[in-house]
Amino acid sequence: MQEKLNYLVKPGGKLTGSLRMPGDKSISHRSVMLGSLANGVTVVNGFLEGEDSLATLNAFRQLGVSIDGPKQGRVTIQGVGMHGLSAPTSALDLGNSGTSMRLLSGLLAGQGISITLIGDSSLSGRPMKRVIDPLIQMGAKIGSTEAATAPLVISANNQLHGIDYQLPMASAQVKSAILLAGLYAKGETCVTEPAPTRDHTERMLEGFGYPVRRNANRICVTGGGCLNGCEIDVPADISSATFFLVGACIAEGSEVVLEHVGINPTRDGVISILRLMGADIELINEREVGGEPVADIQVRSCSLHGIEIPEALVPLAIDEFPALFIAAACAEGETRLSGAEELRVKESDRIQVMADGLHKLGIHAVPTVDGIVIRGGSIEGGQVESHGDHRIAMSFAMAGLRSAGSIEIADCANVNTSFPGFVPLASEAGLVITEVSN
Ligand code: S3P
Repeated sequence: MQEKLNYLVKPGGKLTGSLRMPGDKSISHRSVMLGSLANGVTVVNGFLEGEDSLATLNAFRQLGVSIDGPKQGRVTIQGVGMHGLSAPTSALDLGNSGTSMRLLSGLLAGQGISITLIGDSSLSGRPMKRVIDPLIQMGAKIGSTEAATAPLVISANNQLHGIDYQLPMASAQVKSAILLAGLYAKGETCVTEPAPTRDHTERMLEGFGYPVRRNANRICVTGGGCLNGCEIDVPADISSATFFLVGACIAEGSEVVLEHVGINPTRDGVISILRLMGADIELINEREVGGEPVADIQVRSCSLHGIEIPEALVPLAIDEFPALFIAAACAEGETRLSGAEELRVKESDRIQVMADGLHKLGIHAVPTVDGIVIRGGSIEGGQVESHGDHRIAMSFAMAGLRSAGSIEIADCANVNTSFPGFVPLASEAGLVITEVSN
């Protein structure tokens, strides 16, 4: 059997210092996608050197794009223009990355080349009907398993047409897949979202000079335009910063500054939710970098209280719930989450997996169809499963700051998909964590 990487976290400690998190994953993916299709050179700084964004980068190399780096976060892309990609000689392996698979299915649907997209066992179980259906409506030819999962087989086709699509769920990946296909479609493609989701695709298209029309929750592009290479400065990922935000809130005596973090209003739900729970969070030196708002975030420990999480904040904090559940476990009283059924189809079923782990650590947590109810209490030591889900692993690691005994977290290798260097950075900040192979 293959060796598994576990984390062992000793109880106690506090987080201090000024810390720089790795680059934003969503923005890193999109920088390679649009940079590859642009005319001229695109230079990206702060690129996330994690397995997910590297899967996107390698996919474009297989599609014939010359890409230099990443070298200390710098990537230089020789754009091939909208129609310059070439057919790969084998399937594109996107590993664990849902963003790569869903966005690429849209971007590649109208290229006129045949391509197969594959992924690891987690990605191969995730729902793809949500992108297949609208893309087929646009005229794409996409095959999948009977369960509408990967492998996705895209047949050569350059005859897409625009659609006017009402998104059935709040998903930036589905929105982006349709808009990227729309760049290749005849006429106008419009997407209406049930609630605002991260808008990095729209912002970056504009940054590359592609017109995007936005009116409230409706976003439209017209096919046939082109992208102009540019410079992109990727801010630190607020989703990675979240583990340290939560850790510093719950561990007495903590005070950290998280530098240069992206605080795009479609991503900052975690700050709003923690503040509602009583957190002491300050945004310093707010500025705009390359079309994305950025700030340094100062957090000090304080006592949290349970809340009913407003449903409107759910899409704005969709990746942050595993860590927020640890905050809830340390809060006074009950925290209730609803309207978050999407958490069940992430890298793992994040509602069930977190509830199971919290139980093991002595916390009362009741999963519901679309959320969870967590009663704050004392965290005990114990063994928990991350199910290969990076965000579950890092969330339970932070629980060690408040646990009575050691916590062992199984199956943590996928932390490298989004947060290479998590263990050394967390150790430097004050978490007592080691990696154990078994
Ligand atoms: C992402 C969108 C979100 C998020 C994922 C990254 C993106 O997924 O969970 O980690 O970069 O567009 P959904 O669109 O499925 O909510």
